[in-house]
Amino acid sequence: MLKSIFLQNFRSYKKDDFEFSENSTLIVGPNTAGKSNLLEAIFLISTGKSNRAGIDPQMIHFGKEIGRVKAQVDDLELEVVLTNGNLGGNKSQYKKFLINGVAKRRVDFEGNLPAVLFSPQDLDIIVDSPTLRREFLNNVLEQVDRDYRIANISFVKALRQRNALLENAHDSGTKNPKHFEYWDNQVIENGQIITKKREEFIEFVNSSLKDIFEFEISYDKSEISQLRLLQYEREELAAGVTLVGPHRDDFSLLMKNHDLHDVRYFGSRGQQRLAILQLKSLELEYVEKVLGKKPLLILDDIFSELDSSHIKLILEQIGKQQTIISTTHKEFVSAKYLKKMKVIKL
Ligand SMILES: Nc1ncnc2c1ncn2[C@@H]1O[C@H](COP(=O)(O)OP(=O)(O)OP(=O)(O)O)[C@@H](O)[C@H]1O
Ligand SMILES: [Mg+2]
Repeated sequence: MLKSIFLQNFRSYKKDDFEFSENSTLIVGPNTAGKSNLLEAIFLISTGKSNRAGIDPQMIHFGKEIGRVKAQVDDLELEVVLTNGNLGGNKSQYKKFLINGVAKRRVDFEGNLPAVLFSPQDLDIIVDSPTLRREFLNNVLEQVDRDYRIANISFVKALRQRNALLENAHDSGTKNPKHFEYWDNQVIENGQIITKKREEFIEFVNSSLKDIFEFEISYDKSEISQLRLLQYEREELAAGVTLVGPHRDDFSLLMKNHDLHDVRYFGSRGQQRLAILQLKSLELEYVEKVLGKKPLLILDDIFSELDSSHIKLILEQIGKQQTIISTTHKEFVSAKYLKKMKVIKL
């Protein structure tokens, strides 16, 4: 449970702290009050990364060099320190993670406050580029699985090395297999772990009951193996980048009307919203299934986008786990639910 959070030079906050209810907390404030910033800070404590910053230093208050978020989660003190890079230099030094004051790696920091965040921008998962869909899969699986986090870090690193080798080979016109051996094995080994775990999650979604919106996921996976790398050898040399692997994965949501139709191309805006709401709700179920406990639910300003029947559906969900909700108008929440919530006015 998230008990409290302290923000220092984080986004619009200079120095502030907030305490949360063990049930539901409603954060109310007009546009630009700092609602999404506060929820971003919670997400940062949960995952070790931002849900929206392009680069981490964007989270530091304008003109400052260091930002800090500290949270009390059960009896742990979780802390992320952000620096603008002027202090250290390379990107890995932008963030520091501490648990009870002891420095940790991100793989060990994440997982102490499992959380599912839902915001209107999540619609982009359906309508935008494959990158966002892969990020979604990563977000879900990194939350629950340390092996996935490790595999993903190793894969990204190996991929970068392998692509650098391919680029050289492309420029020089010759490929030295000896140089590739180690990195080939690294991308294959870690890539296969990622694919397998993504498959498991997608399989879970497809076999789960969907009471909000009916769809199935079609996983367009780019499998990686020794054989596949061999098959693509010439194309890879020509392109100078790795052409197979989970970094090329995609998926689509197919709605079952008439036949199977991609929500992205055939769904109305409303259907797309319901599909993403359903997907997020299954994310919550998945995290709960794997970890055996309910994650923190974070809802950023979603009521303005939904009709009253779906707002009600969400409000019913809220009582089942610790929930933090932001809204511009508390009128979205009916009195029956409101009286059970702690309200923070910004
Ligand atoms: N690094 C930063 N330093 C200082 N202020 C920032 C920084 N990043 C963003 N802000 C500002 O923080 C303010 C609050 O942003 P936030 O997204 O939290 O608002 P909000 O309450 O969610 O508003 P809305 O209802 O419009 O979504 C904005 O005015 C934004 O420009
Ligand atoms: Mg906002």
